[in-house]
Amino acid sequence: MPDATLDLATEPTISHTSPPVSQPLPPIVPLGEEALPEALTLLEGTYWNEGIAPEAVGRAILASTVWVGAREPSGALVAMARVLSDTVKVAWIFDVIVRPDWRGKGLAQALMRAMLEHPAVRHVRKVRLGTRDAHGLYAKFGFRSTTQALHVVEMVLERASL
Ligand SMILES: CC(C)(COP(=O)(O)OP(=O)(O)OC[C@H]1O[C@@H](n2cnc3c(N)ncnc32)[C@H](O)[C@@H]1OP(=O)(O)O)[C@@H](O)C(=O)NCCC(=O)NCCS
Repeated sequence: MPDATLDLATEPTISHTSPPVSQPLPPIVPLGEEALPEALTLLEGTYWNEGIAPEAVGRAILASTVWVGAREPSGALVAMARVLSDTVKVAWIFDVIVRPDWRGKGLAQALMRAMLEHPAVRHVRKVRLGTRDAHGLYAKFGFRSTTQALHVVEMVLERASL
């Protein structure tokens, strides 16, 4: 189980200030290994995990510093996101996903708030993520495109899938 899920377990439930909805949003809670099969189902078909075996995606999730999600009243996992953080210089957000029938109710924003306020992320200087089309969601939290902001050349070593 990732360490930071333990950290979050000691934190109070994180509230959200989403627009009014017909039913209350489920709370954002830390997730552990038992949630892995449901998480992999939620992530099925996501463009950013293409070509990576589910078992490997699962290992990546378990290596997260913070892994949070939301369960509907039936107990089913309906949303998750995770972050890898060095707690000081950089944190990377990955795998932000909400089940289609729960979209548009503020859950992704609640997940983002929970991760950004987490003790392991709260003081990090740069929080990074990649997105194909959800810029507007992240802009709400102050994220901006690095193509406008980078004053250094970002270098990347790309390796074949596991
Ligand atoms: C993107 C996603 C996580 C958003 O989840 P959500 O719970 O519907 O989002 P929320 O309701 O919390 O808020 C979304 C807000 O961001 C805005 N937004 C901007 N671009 C968006 C996009 N591409 N998708 C969803 N919302 C977007 C919405 O308009 C909304 O703002 P509003 O409340 O002012 O109208 C969800 O649509 C999803 O799981 N998509 C498939 C997976 C994915 O693309 N994940 C992101 C990878 S970077």
